[in-house]
Amino acid sequence: MQTFDSAYQNFKRPARTGALVTVGRVEDVPPGRGATVELDGGAELALYNVAGRFYAVENFCPHRGAPLADGNLCGASVECDWHGWRFDLSTGACLNRPDAHIQSYEVRIEDGWIKIVV
Ligand code: FES
Repeated sequence: MQTFDSAYQNFKRPARTGALVTVGRVEDVPPGRGATVELDGGAELALYNVAGRFYAVENFCPHRGAPLADGNLCGASVECDWHGWRFDLSTGACLNRPDAHIQSYEVRIEDGWIKIVV
C-alpha cells in the first residue's frame, strides 16, 4: 500500500459558499471524459461525464496531489493516474483508504448549461 502523507493539501479547493457557478455546456465534456474546471481565485474542480450524468470533485488526489481530472473513469469512480487510488464520484469516498476522503460537489444541468454548487 502507498503511504498517505497528510502534508499534501489542496490549496485550490473552492471555498464552500453554496453559490451556483456556471462552468460550461454539456457538449464541452463528452461521455466518458473528465475536465479541469478553473474557477475565480485559482480554485479548481474535476468534472466528469459518466454516461450523461455529471459529477464534480476537488481536482486533487490526497495521496500525492495528482490532478484527478486526468484520472481514469471506472463507472462512477475515478482512478488516480499516478498510483491508482480510486474515489467514488458521488461521495468523494476513497475506495482504497477510508481516511483519504475528497470533497464532492452537486452538479445541475439547466438548459444545457453545467452548473456546480460550490
Ligand atoms: S497521487 Fe498517488 S494515488 Fe493519486
